[in-house]
Amino acid sequence: MKNQIINHLKQYGQEHLLTFWDSLSDSEQRELTNQIESIDFALAAQLYEHRNTPAESLTIANRASDPPAYKFSTVTDPTPCKTRKPISFQEAISAGHDVLCHGKVGVILVAGGQGTRLGFPHPKGMYPIGPVSEATLFQFHFEKVLAASKHYGYQIPYAIMTSPATHHETVDFLAQKNYFGLRKDDVFIFCQGTMPAVSLETGKVLLNSKGNIALSPDGHGGMLAAITQKNRNGTSVLDCLQQRGIEYLFYNQVDNPLVRICSPEFLGYHVLIGSELTSQVIRKRFPTDKVGNIVEVDGRLYVIEYSDLPEEIARQTNSNGSLKIWAGSIAVHIFNTALLDRTSKIATSLPFHIARKKVPFVDISSGEQIKPEKENAIKFERFIFDLLPSAENAVVVEVDPPNHYAPLKNALGSLTDSPETVKHDLSAMYSDWLRNAGAVVITETPVEISPLFADSPEYLKQKIKKGTVFDKPTYLQN
Ligand code: UTP
Repeated sequence: MKNQIINHLKQYGQEHLLTFWDSLSDSEQRELTNQIESIDFALAAQLYEHRNTPAESLTIANRASDPPAYKFSTVTDPTPCKTRKPISFQEAISAGHDVLCHGKVGVILVAGGQGTRLGFPHPKGMYPIGPVSEATLFQFHFEKVLAASKHYGYQIPYAIMTSPATHHETVDFLAQKNYFGLRKDDVFIFCQGTMPAVSLETGKVLLNSKGNIALSPDGHGGMLAAITQKNRNGTSVLDCLQQRGIEYLFYNQVDNPLVRICSPEFLGYHVLIGSELTSQVIRKRFPTDKVGNIVEVDGRLYVIEYSDLPEEIARQTNSNGSLKIWAGSIAVHIFNTALLDRTSKIATSLPFHIARKKVPFVDISSGEQIKPEKENAIKFERFIFDLLPSAENAVVVEVDPPNHYAPLKNALGSLTDSPETVKHDLSAMYSDWLRNAGAVVITETPVEISPLFADSPEYLKQKIKKGTVFDKPTYLQN
């Protein structure tokens, strides 16, 4: 057995991975064997070899113009956008309702990230974020899908992507919570793949303990391979969704509880334009804002990461003084299921990105565990937004952050994107909804609304008596 694995590893110069084999128990040897079998060493070697090839994004940045865009009805910024064709928001809402009422929309949540910045010892979806109820991120998302299922009269299929880092705890947690009211048959939990971390200096795969390879999830772009991966019966999660008649997949990430899941307005623009991939964006506050930039080149959309956008290009303005590259991605998308099906069959649809990181590892000569002080490793990740250039008629929809975007990224006490800021933003949004419905909310009173009570200001209006006063922490639920 050992010899067989060594021969396999020798082809790629990675036989050091078995250095501690003889000191491992049977089960540890089995686990290490499984990890080795899961790795595409030829791919890792090829990616390492090209680690210094300049990113294509510089060429794109030099030729970038602003993307075709629509504005969500709650956006007040008057800066005009370049559109594909005129569409009013009433037309968009009506088209969105139509596809929802015909049961053509499914939802996918990606929740495979390791959440290192947050430093919470469980999957991020289990973080209690409700400003009054302490509802978890998962509860917010599941209740939104359940609310939409009730509005539109069909069981919306809900796909949840985990990773080996989050899978078992997520599966147990969701089962224990009874899927927050969704039917188990409508929830499709699937696990994304991993990639090994390799030494920056040598390209050798790192061990993070004597019997374990330093593996991490292969990025949210791992969703494309994972959702189209066939099970033993020859069926993938995407097949199951398509068999149910799902043509559009609403995508969001686990960390943003403000996201308007299945927003008819967002869906409507997508459908009326005949887009295969539509993304929500926010207007950048300043040229070097740390968001992915969506741009157009030769009629195709691309994302340029903020770290790849040269400052002189980021600072370019239009004749009215507005930023030329203004559209910051917030990672909320609609994918046509046909696009996912088509691009999954093309190996180059999603390139790997390279990140230099500090990764703890075992020193092969001493067996000691080392915590590096500077970057010692390369990690490889795919990003789902790299599907944009493959999509026909891709377009963006501008949203306003107070109603759509407050991601949980950083630990307690951080100034931005922390538990405190997200709770504050949730309560501020719900206060606005209540005031808009005619209620009086005393300043700074924490308020929260379960999506099952109302998942939009329009539904809330039907449920709140004008003049109702909120002067103490309140959680509105059914
Ligand atoms: P981030 O890139 O912000 O990573 O993921 P993270 O795991 O939340 O946090 P850090 O960077 O380790 O602190 C954005 C979204 O993409 C998902 C995450 O779960 C989150 O919803 N994601 C990320 C995956 O599903 N898989 C991945 O491999 C990476």
